[in-house]
Amino acid sequence: MLLGTQRINEEGFLEVGGCNTIELAEEFGTPLYILDEAGLRETCRRYREAFAAHYPRVHISFSSKVFTTMAVCRIVEEEGLGVDVSSGGELFTALDAGVSPSRIVMHGSNKSLREIELAVSHRVGRIGIDYLEEIAMLQKIAAAHQTQVDVLIRVAPGIAADTHTHIQTGKADTKFGLALADGSAKQAVAEALNAPNLQLRGINCHIGSQILDIDPFAETARVMVDFASQVRDDLGYTLEELDLGGGLGVRYSSDDRPPSFEEFAEAVASAVKQTCEAHDLPLPKLLQEPGRSLIGESGLTLYRIGVIKEISGVRTYVSVDGGMSDNPRPALYGARYSAILANKAALPSTQTVTVAGKHCESDTLIPELEAPQIAVGDILAVQTTGAYNYSMASNYNRFQRPAVVLVRDGRADVIVERESLEDLVRLDRIPERLRSPEPKKAS
Ligand code: LLP
Repeated sequence: MLLGTQRINEEGFLEVGGCNTIELAEEFGTPLYILDEAGLRETCRRYREAFAAHYPRVHISFSSKVFTTMAVCRIVEEEGLGVDVSSGGELFTALDAGVSPSRIVMHGSNKSLREIELAVSHRVGRIGIDYLEEIAMLQKIAAAHQTQVDVLIRVAPGIAADTHTHIQTGKADTKFGLALADGSAKQAVAEALNAPNLQLRGINCHIGSQILDIDPFAETARVMVDFASQVRDDLGYTLEELDLGGGLGVRYSSDDRPPSFEEFAEAVASAVKQTCEAHDLPLPKLLQEPGRSLIGESGLTLYRIGVIKEISGVRTYVSVDGGMSDNPRPALYGARYSAILANKAALPSTQTVTVAGKHCESDTLIPELEAPQIAVGDILAVQTTGAYNYSMASNYNRFQRPAVVLVRDGRADVIVERESLEDLVRLDRIPERLRSPEPKKAS
């Protein structure tokens, strides 16, 4: 499986963005996150075009949590997308990157006062309300800033999509949003309508992530429009915007068959249109917040192979110089990844190995990788690491987070520097009383 601009060059090395991955590993070190700029731009464009072809008014926001960096924010904004953020840190990054505040949607299930203040003072485009008390809190802050805030109400539509339970977010039993079943979503709408400094624009939801089946998305669209029609009937208010979140899956292996953007857009758009027609409701503006499906396949992680340990009759462990600190997804969700031996990309597979990280646990990255003969020093390129890898990386075992390199047309630019050892201790403090050890008592 080759994704985006990946190709195998004449020497049998894996290339991406016109750059030889072996040279990238030499120049920037490993582990190394690589982002294929053309691949990312292309998916942004295709996603936008797919919806534009099926629905009259659509606004697409990039869900920045998948890969929050300033350069990524700039690229997606250049591609005509807005940016959705879900914390003060993501908001700060988007603002610092120069994203126009009006194109930012601020979410968050437990926003702090400070985060709301930051969003209101920068006049972000929309703030998503996640729980009832947030309405009064936001009203107060908006009044203090003498401003009007455009809001969305996050609805829990009660849909359980077929994905890992940790990333199902639209069920009735969820910490996210306001439930339809117990009336709290409608109560929130009523309260927001009564808040003088809040301008209710619409409703939003997000049912989960890495969903490969279209039906739950279409079902969600219907449930949300049904709710919008109830709001119109009971509260006399017609919602202008319908934000259906993100969630579309990507290819982690050649067996994964996510729907195309066209199929997805068509299904969602026609569910919205048909349900609106059935309720005689004007078509709302449709908001989409994809993350993974825009950038997942454009990411690649390069590792250098270290220890190779064959346990006779059991398996062969091949250890790489990263692991769960740069990609916690296998450990968290049992996520499966594909990989290419980048310096032997044209050779046939002759064995099955287990790719392990180098953390102090059994941090298996790939349980079964079909590969050519592997030697110490080879470069392994793990694919589809553009979503929730860099952004979920940690310093476990005091590993330094890898650099991120943006590649395009043979150019490679560092967009996030590799952390240094000094970075690791930069925020550590030793209290005075621990500095000068007390003289040991003679026994
Ligand atoms: N909108 C909202 C409100 C969200 O909460 C999310 C993701 C998205 C959009 C983007 O969803 P996407 O298109 O990327 O599926 N860390 C997990 C995924 C958590 C998803 C959180 N919300 C993982 O690595 O699989």
